[in-house]
Amino acid sequence: MSDAAEVPGFSSIEVSVDGAIGELVLNRPDKLNALSGELMNELISASEWFSERAEVKVVVVGGAGRSFCAGADLTAFAGIDGEAGEEARLHAADLGRRMAEALTGTRPMTIARIQGHCIGGGLVIASACDLRVAADDASFSIPEVDLGIPLAWGGIPRLVREIGPAATKELVLTCRRFGAGEAKELGFLNRVVSTERLGSEVDELAAKLAGQPAYSLELTKRHVNEVAEESGSTANSIEDARFLIGALEDPESLAKMSSYLSGRG
Ligand code: COA
Repeated sequence: MSDAAEVPGFSSIEVSVDGAIGELVLNRPDKLNALSGELMNELISASEWFSERAEVKVVVVGGAGRSFCAGADLTAFAGIDGEAGEEARLHAADLGRRMAEALTGTRPMTIARIQGHCIGGGLVIASACDLRVAADDASFSIPEVDLGIPLAWGGIPRLVREIGPAATKELVLTCRRFGAGEAKELGFLNRVVSTERLGSEVDELAAKLAGQPAYSLELTKRHVNEVAEESGSTANSIEDARFLIGALEDPESLAKMSSYLSGRG
């Protein structure tokens, strides 16, 4: 492991480096790693920090505990609601997009290691990584529309690029759960393995990539991302924050949100 003094201390994520391989773990296991504002801001800082560590070629992105990530922190919706001024609301609503962009833009290759639940914003995090490996019993869903809001944070172009327009529309609009097998068939996942094999499979993949020359690794990542941007750019995803605020001003959407949240109460 690298000198502990070099690794920044975070509260909601954990970051470590071992040679050319880094690890970034969402670390709110009691809340299934739900995405608080603090966690998302830390993820942005960690992505930038990894970009500056020339020795790091690959970063594994995982979740502590039984789930990868249960999506946006439902207790933090107040951040984009209520009394805040227009600019503050837009800034808060845009945080998830900035987080996904930071992760996609980090210099090392990223591998999402997915177990348990991978929901909503958690699925956006996975889609912002370069590669995705999941346990065969992992469960996926995109419940935003059930929650009365559109899928934001640049999730739509990322999903369209990976699984195509029809599957994106179906999964986003039905909000149904789907398993790792279906996610793999759709092209969302690179590999599906047993829960017991998940860690070692990801470690082997990371080691394989870390053995490649940094020049080709970085160039290929950038090149693929540039081509992906041409087929479905996230450049306009800055508008997603306005779409989120729009839902908070739409009575039918608000009624849907209230029924979803009370169902969990
Ligand atoms: N935001 C905030 N807290 C969350 C959360 C979220 N998105 N997802 C889970 N948690 C919390 C729960 O409130 C619970 O906390 P508590 O122990 O203090 O009560 C803890 O994490 C464990 O969750 P729990 O619901 O008890 O686990 P489960 O295995 O019964 O259910 C899920 C797992 C993922 C099905 C369920 O937690 C869930 O539906 N979460 C919300 C998913 C969601 O709508 N995300 C928003 C996407 S936009």
